[in-house]
Amino acid sequence: MASIRLFVSFVLLSGAFCRMEPVPLVIWHGMGDSCCNPESMGYIKKIVEKKIPGIYVLSLKIGSTLIEDMENSFFKNVNDQVTLVCDMLAKDPKLKGGYNAMGFSQGGQFLRAVVQRCPTPPIINLISVGGQHQGVYGFPRCPGESSHICDWIRKMLDLGAYTKEVQDRLVQAQYWHDPLNEEEYRKKSLFLADINQERFVNTTYKKNLMSLNKFVMVKFLNDTMVDPPASEWFGYYRSNQATETIPLNETLLYTEDRLGLMEMDQAGKLVFLGVEGDHLHFSKDWFYKNILPFLQ
Ligand SMILES: *[C@@H]1O[C@H](CO)[C@@H](O)[C@H](O)[C@H]1NC(C)=O
Ligand SMILES: *[C@@H]1O[C@H](CO)[C@@H](O)[C@H](O)[C@H]1NC(C)=O
Ligand SMILES: *[C@@H]1O[C@H](CO)[C@@H](O)[C@H](O)[C@H]1NC(C)=O
Repeated sequence: MASIRLFVSFVLLSGAFCRMEPVPLVIWHGMGDSCCNPESMGYIKKIVEKKIPGIYVLSLKIGSTLIEDMENSFFKNVNDQVTLVCDMLAKDPKLKGGYNAMGFSQGGQFLRAVVQRCPTPPIINLISVGGQHQGVYGFPRCPGESSHICDWIRKMLDLGAYTKEVQDRLVQAQYWHDPLNEEEYRKKSLFLADINQERFVNTTYKKNLMSLNKFVMVKFLNDTMVDPPASEWFGYYRSNQATETIPLNETLLYTEDRLGLMEMDQAGKLVFLGVEGDHLHFSKDWFYKNILPFLQ
């Protein structure tokens, strides 16, 4: 009798396991990249699919062609991009049960906006690989294929990152964070000041972010492209100067708990990973050992 019961529960259990599909993964690429470059996002998709057979990996394409996707990473209003992505994800039947999200570089902060604004379908783990959660105050070595775009970006940001013309037209201006001019940043930043609750606290943002299982932030310890690299762990320059940085837990955003990060930290939901190397440089073995556990 006991063994029959055991047998029945075994069959039920294994039936449940058979139906259990891997949690899907949504990827958002960085500046100057595209969804499907076989050497960047295409490669990541491939190695994830190899390790997690049957997983659905969606690498986001913003626009109808790869060129458009790349151009939009410089020129398409970030709030509009987030709305577009939210629509795409809500309509995708394969994501209905929830998904993990992994953003590379600026894709990290863009996916955090998706978490905060669009809780359906639910996001389980958010993995930010070199994302700049407190923004940037420089692109010492702007990545991407075309150096003329980098030169143009620097010129626009110098002209006035917080002027309406530049805010409207340049993605990087929308997460430009001038520590010498926090007031302007708070008032004029179209994207980052909003998701970081700098103007007022939207309790929905806080609730949605806190519903994550884990928020993993990867920082590149020898990053020469992001200024300051502390932003990759949600730290930033102490206000009114641009040399000394402070960690997340010393920022007002944290101590006032405007975004729920303090509570998440206390609940063990924040994971800080450091990897030796320059921006977005990591090995396949490092990825398997440190990131894969959050995708399963
Ligand atoms: C707070 O954020 C939610 C989600 O994006 C939005 O629907 C709502 O309008 C926001 N509330 C305010 C007061 O802006
Ligand atoms: C990278 O940065 C870490 C931490 O600052 C340091 O210990 C290490 O020596 C650096 N590695 C290289 C190759 O510069
Ligand atoms: C703040 O975070 C740092 C790591 O960034 C940690 O070493 C330190 O203990 C934390 N401080 C508090 C008060 O939790």
